[in-house]
Amino acid sequence: MKGKTAEESKTTLTDMVLPGETNPLNNLFGGELLARMDRAAAIAARRHSARIVVTASVNHVAFNKAVPLDSVVTVEAKVSRAFNTSMEVFIDAWIEDRQSGDRTKANEGIYTFVAVDETGRPVKIPELIPETELEKQRYDAALRRKQLSLLLSGKIKPSDATELKAFFTEE
Ligand SMILES: CC(C)(COP(=O)(O)OP(=O)(O)OC[C@H]1O[C@@H](n2cnc3c(N)ncnc32)[C@H](O)[C@@H]1OP(=O)(O)O)[C@@H](O)C(=O)NCCC(=O)NCCS
Repeated sequence: MKGKTAEESKTTLTDMVLPGETNPLNNLFGGELLARMDRAAAIAARRHSARIVVTASVNHVAFNKAVPLDSVVTVEAKVSRAFNTSMEVFIDAWIEDRQSGDRTKANEGIYTFVAVDETGRPVKIPELIPETELEKQRYDAALRRKQLSLLLSGKIKPSDATELKAFFTEE
């Protein structure tokens, strides 16, 4: 199976924040942003694997900046690493200034998707080839995030999280 670059999976969704999507402070409701991230990340995972994909885990989300009503929000997703049947996807969310058009990073998320066949059984996927410095950093740290996610969901024992343990015992 031929590897694919992270860039090949890149997916960008741009949309605005409408009144029905806000909280009482008139900022974007968190669940709405999670859904937009999930949608972009699912497309990125599908582009990488050319398979049906399902969300296996939301590994991390940081709502660093509120996103006001009427903002233009761009969600950009890229596969950061492919394992056997699962993929880690990084999602960056940006807001755009109406007058200058300048973009500010508002939030980010890390999701895990699994490629499955028509019966929902996990299937093997191509390798991910990181190219830029940022893609390489995200690729290198992905295994310990996978182990942390599996540990938190009770799917592996602490003794199996070797990469994660090594990170904490590094000099
Ligand atoms: C995701 C799903 C396919 C995994 O099935 P499973 O029987 O646990 O399969 P496996 O144990 O073989 O795991 C498959 C892969 O997912 C990874 N995985 C499973 N749970 C994970 C988690 N919580 N975090 C990170 N990776 C996870 C495994 O490590 C494995 O990766 P690898 O093959 O690349 O090494 C299955 O749980 C499922 O269909 N869940 C529902 C998905 C869904 O409907 N999502 C939408 C939410 S409503």
